[in-house]
Amino acid sequence: MKDKLTVNSTLKDFSNFVRIPEHRKSVINQALSTPTKKNYVVNSNANFLHPDVQYLRVKEVIESGADERCYILVPDTAHGTGKLAFFRPGQYLSITLNIGSSVVTRPFTICSSPYDSSDKDFYMIKVKRVIHGFATNHIFNTWQKGTEIVASAPLGNFYYQPLRDYPFLIGITDNDGIPTFLSMARAIEEKSLDVNLTLFYSCREKSSAIFMEELLEIQKRTRNFKVIFVFSDEKVENYERGFITKQLIEAYAPPENYSIFIDGSSQLLKLISTQIAELNLERKAVRLNIGSQVKDIKTIPDFPVESIGKSFECKVKKDGKVIATINCPADETILVALERAGIPALSHCRVGSCGYCRARLTKGNVFIPNGVDSRKLADTKHGIIHPCVSYAMSDLTIQIN
Ligand code: FES
Repeated sequence: MKDKLTVNSTLKDFSNFVRIPEHRKSVINQALSTPTKKNYVVNSNANFLHPDVQYLRVKEVIESGADERCYILVPDTAHGTGKLAFFRPGQYLSITLNIGSSVVTRPFTICSSPYDSSDKDFYMIKVKRVIHGFATNHIFNTWQKGTEIVASAPLGNFYYQPLRDYPFLIGITDNDGIPTFLSMARAIEEKSLDVNLTLFYSCREKSSAIFMEELLEIQKRTRNFKVIFVFSDEKVENYERGFITKQLIEAYAPPENYSIFIDGSSQLLKLISTQIAELNLERKAVRLNIGSQVKDIKTIPDFPVESIGKSFECKVKKDGKVIATINCPADETILVALERAGIPALSHCRVGSCGYCRARLTKGNVFIPNGVDSRKLADTKHGIIHPCVSYAMSDLTIQIN
């Protein structure tokens, strides 16, 4: 590297430089006094790709398994959504629900393909009813053909990124994560996603595998997609029996470099993590969707056992004033406690990754499980927390937006 940088200039450069303010003034003086155009093409494109909100309607309800339904959502033109925003397989919609006096949001991965939204004007999402679940029971009980829905633009980073990921992908999933891979398989078939995907799908038995027929059909029609069903509790001819192991992955893995995409339940993630570590892949080659990771915080090994069964008081401030004092059980996220108390709280992903729910902790202690703390160092230093993955460990004071 050179030590010196030589700039050649002439007297003309200097004289032009000093004339800049004068030139700027004359351009301003010549400008129109009427307001500038409000709608530039670039702005309309940006609004189309990333709308603040999408108004949708349920077009169809499909029973897809025990306590599982798929909903076909179409644009609600009467409320101003004419076209659906573009998405990438693996992204989700954050859906706003009014339940009693609470306003809550829940993320649902889109399982249709990009062409389904751009050419056929629909998204498909899968909803699994959670026993005693606040939001999923509300959806099962109230959503029917014609129900109006308020959703975000497609969100999330768990999708194939050609600059970062290898074009050969290994997918690892179970019933919780299958919407991501169904969307990818559909996109591969319609050629809107140019990758080669080998999917390991772990289930207890054949009858519990959802979308099995469609995945096998896509495999028949598409060279770039292969699905391997792994049944833990049943021996089925021509299918794998047991669990997804390092050896099984290596038996089907391509000879080329590959990226692993893992999306599924906390049990799957627990079972698979040592096997993945033994593959010794580069860090960037392992992509994890932690969307469904923490279901019962008490089962997380580092959760302080002495807090089980305890409840704390949390003062909630907005614009510097205390707006409520709520009850925060130690085994429930602060976000859920806010929602139960009917306090409108911002959220999208609900797993600590988007940063949308951020709040400032000014008093007290919280527990944040390993692996879900995506805060920047500066945020941590200044007491910023993500209430969607923070659990009260003492009485608290928080400032929300
Ligand atoms: S909602 Fe995304 S970080 Fe909390």
